[in-house]
Amino acid sequence: MSETAKSRAAALPHLRRAGLAKGDPIPLPLTMAAIFHAPGDATGYDQYGRFSNPTWDAVEHMLAHLEDAPCVAFPSGMAAISAVFFGLLKAGDRILLPSDGYHTTRALADRFLKSFGVAYDVRPTSSFLDGGFDGYRLAFVETPANPGLDICDIAAVAEAVHKAGAMLVVDNTTMTPFGQRPLDLGADIVIAADTKAPNGHSDVLFGHVASRNADIISRVTDWRETSGAIPGPFEAWLVHRGLETLDVRFDRMCASAEMIARRLKDHRAISGLRFPGLESDPSHNLARAQMERFGFLISFVLASEDKAEDFINNCALMQAATSFGGVHTSAERRSKRGDAVPPGFVRLSIGCEPVEELWQAIEASLDRIGT
Ligand SMILES: Cc1ncc(COP(=O)(O)O)c(C=O)c1O
Repeated sequence: MSETAKSRAAALPHLRRAGLAKGDPIPLPLTMAAIFHAPGDATGYDQYGRFSNPTWDAVEHMLAHLEDAPCVAFPSGMAAISAVFFGLLKAGDRILLPSDGYHTTRALADRFLKSFGVAYDVRPTSSFLDGGFDGYRLAFVETPANPGLDICDIAAVAEAVHKAGAMLVVDNTTMTPFGQRPLDLGADIVIAADTKAPNGHSDVLFGHVASRNADIISRVTDWRETSGAIPGPFEAWLVHRGLETLDVRFDRMCASAEMIARRLKDHRAISGLRFPGLESDPSHNLARAQMERFGFLISFVLASEDKAEDFINNCALMQAATSFGGVHTSAERRSKRGDAVPPGFVRLSIGCEPVEELWQAIEASLDRIGT
């Protein structure tokens, strides 16, 4: 971890300290309120729950500290992506999406943006620079892409996108601000599903938009207030609590993923192993250059759908579940969700269990299914 990341992590649990009066609770109080006391001109005060909420302010303060940029919180990762698209695009715009990223982002463009006159194209993450960006208003990348874990060069894409007069959005869900810093690499906007590692306990959906451009922040805030796509205060409170341990959980998950990926490499049941931290991975050099950690996601292919289901469903320390980034190790056969991957393709999300015990459970399950 870099010195800056360490000091960012150290300050995170103390962000509220400066605002505390004697007798105030040190943990964040939860404010469940649709209305606030607002006699006369209440400009600058909380007035109505769709406009503002002190619990949102606290979680946004934490997210802004992590991103080093103003942040706007949303009720899910998709709500954050929608805010960027619907808040910033207009009819006649054209956007570029990853062909191998989270499928719902493409579905949003296909099922809704198109009918508002916004066209889209797709391109693979690993060759995202090829073909340039002329004619696009916005390019959107997800790196490493979920679920195939291909990577693109954020700084090079940002430079080319800006030369073409477009803006770059990075979905940083798979990495979190501790693992990769797209705004520092030149992206205009980061979006993330805090549903995953930032909350970390798989009990809440949440998302945020981060940007150092005041106009972008104002547009997505206006979208949230006007569309009503607002986070619940309790969800914000839970994410605030989750973020206090993100550094510890993310550190454990990434370290365990590195160890487990190295061991999986030698297992006979596995082919097509992808983990950016492996020297043999096609993305490794780029990953070393632009990522602070290699993440906690590993993907690989087992011989058949049945073997992959058996491996996941009968591993003692693994939850069969979609999503990733929770304290529990979990896995999913992604063709189940329509991703263009073989039937035996598994996306594995390494959790916080002690690594040797976790490896033993994974190895036992792989040994049982055979090759
Ligand atoms: C990379 C990525 N972005 C965005 C999302 C959407 O997040 P949410 O489910 O919180 O809407 C997901 C969900 O899996 C994801 O994997």
